[in-house]
Amino acid sequence: MPSIEPGLPAAERDDERAERCNEKANDTRRSDTAGPRVAGLQSYGLLYGSSAIMRELYGQIERVALTDATALIVGESGTGKELVARTIHAQSTRRDGPFIAVNCGAIPDDLIEAELFGHEKGSFTGAVQARDGHFEHARGGTLFLDEVTEMSLLHQVKLLRALETGEYYPVGSNEAIRGDVRIIAATNRDPVTAVKENALREDLMYRLAVFPLRAPPLRERERDRELLAQLFLTELNEESGTQKVFSKRALETVRNWSWPGNVRELKNAVYRAFILAEKTVEIAHPQLVPRVKKPVTQGDAMSVWIGTPLADAQKQIILGTLKYCGGDKRLAARTLGVSLKTLYNRLGSYGAEDSDASTPDESTSDSDASEAGDTH
Ligand SMILES: Nc1ncnc2c1ncn2[C@@H]1O[C@H](COP(=O)(O)OP(=O)(O)O)[C@@H](O)[C@H]1O
Ligand SMILES: [Mg+2]
Repeated sequence: MPSIEPGLPAAERDDERAERCNEKANDTRRSDTAGPRVAGLQSYGLLYGSSAIMRELYGQIERVALTDATALIVGESGTGKELVARTIHAQSTRRDGPFIAVNCGAIPDDLIEAELFGHEKGSFTGAVQARDGHFEHARGGTLFLDEVTEMSLLHQVKLLRALETGEYYPVGSNEAIRGDVRIIAATNRDPVTAVKENALREDLMYRLAVFPLRAPPLRERERDRELLAQLFLTELNEESGTQKVFSKRALETVRNWSWPGNVRELKNAVYRAFILAEKTVEIAHPQLVPRVKKPVTQGDAMSVWIGTPLADAQKQIILGTLKYCGGDKRLAARTLGVSLKTLYNRLGSYGAEDSDASTPDESTSDSDASEAGDTH
């Protein structure tokens, strides 16, 4: 049995859930309803949602799960890309093998090759022992490469080679190892734009996107917002033996807010509101990104001349958003729908990263939390 990285406790926990979903997947291959939990809410594998666009996605997952094809999941942050990948795995013939999730955006570029392919003893400073990489950890199962466009082009070549030959080389080794993994990649960027901007190799895009899937944002899933909110509240009530209910106004907010942070934002908003509530759960106003909920007025908008090179427009939008967010990089990254690392990378390339750039820690989200608490 391949070992699972100690750094991936969440993956292990979710595996249990995926296990349950396997059982479910066995008796009901088609989408089914969440039963008495939330009336009208359908589910498929680990995913919930009854909107037409989600049911379409379930159909695509069902088809791709029957194959070993590489899949590329495209969608904004928080739309459930990882759940889509886990659901594919759980429905596939590899379901009894491991599911290993790797966030390519969170691994420094000089370590990513060893993380993926493993390394020999002494292959670089600090490599005191030979170590397996994620291709080995995922043997017989599925390797989920999240934020794949955050990998440097150099390492994208190596990934492409591994995908095409089915073989890979641990760092410092000349001996090819035959891999046995199904690759599912994900990105929150439009792949074609990423290729144009040199963030994604075109050949890798085609290789990854044998089967492209789109995880739709919550603003395109009007019907699901309230159902999902009820689901999350039901789960919280079950966990803590409570019977809290949403106020009418809370449900209105859930329905009317566009949820730019998608299901993740909705789930966190419900959780936070649940903690604050005695019996009636109020979601007075979306708390996570208070500044983007305002309607776009002159002050919130910026204009870009027609014909502005895309890279320049991107730079203006990034710097403009950062300024709008009062210099709060975490909030700016969230508002822009990119990872904090991506934002740092972009700022670095503009030479705009100030020397006191705070390290990506939780301090800013803590202050968000207390801000949100104040609104209640
Ligand atoms: N369709 C869905 N049904 C239930 N929960 C969902 C759904 N989509 C996303 N979530 C939840 O929202 C959060 C973000 O999902 P995740 O798969 O990590 O998104 P992404 O990888 O696209 O950023 C997770 O807690 C996940 O369980
Ligand atoms: Mg993710």
